[in-house]
Amino acid sequence: MKITFLGHATILLEMNGKKILFDPFISGNPLASEVDIQGLKVDYIFVTHGHEDHVLDVETIAKNNPDSLLVSNFEIVTWFGEKNIKGHPMNHGGKYKFDFGTVKYVNAIHSSVLPDGTYGGNPGGYVIYDESNAVYIAGDTALTRDMELIPMSCPSLDVSILPIGDNFTMGHKDAFIASELINCKKVIGYHFDTFPPIKIDKAEALEYFNKKEKELILPTVGESFTIGKNFHEHEED
Ligand code: NI
Ligand code: MN
Repeated sequence: MKITFLGHATILLEMNGKKILFDPFISGNPLASEVDIQGLKVDYIFVTHGHEDHVLDVETIAKNNPDSLLVSNFEIVTWFGEKNIKGHPMNHGGKYKFDFGTVKYVNAIHSSVLPDGTYGGNPGGYVIYDESNAVYIAGDTALTRDMELIPMSCPSLDVSILPIGDNFTMGHKDAFIASELINCKKVIGYHFDTFPPIKIDKAEALEYFNKKEKELILPTVGESFTIGKNFHEHEED
């Protein structure tokens, strides 16, 4: 499992030979100007919610990759369906086995409206796993007790990708609490620095996690991480 940060909340996950892109917002992000959006080859596009900073480049990338499949909530998949983009709708609490692994659509506390004002359903996050690895991509969310349900209902997480920019989502202190609720030792922070209200003090965030002996990674655009094999089967009690 390989994770590449493409700026803001855009993540490329490579898993079992498939490329899964999350929340593409590249052409509108000057910090991601080095990313070759036209050259992106993907098998799936996942969207956490309808805000423009998560869906801006869905149409371009879907049209450049005509065999790709959009995965999101029912409302967002329906909206893109009207633009002839084919999709697989999910809703909260549901999981589905794709050809690269299992996906569970989990709760997020945020809002969700599409760029033209269409209702975008409720926002969510994704837990994605196979027999070796599990990752949680939270999307835009507040800290919520619902996160405690993730380790109860999914395999143990190797890594979580959590928003840490504050203002619109959790800041780093709430993200630390989230990492405790989901029982995850390794956090990649995202949704920071893109816009003035979410500019963060990176040294302060890193120091905060470091003091609590938990790993926080603040990725640079284009940076990749390979997740090793440290999977433990979820134990039923
Ligand atoms: Ni949002
Ligand atoms: Mn956002």
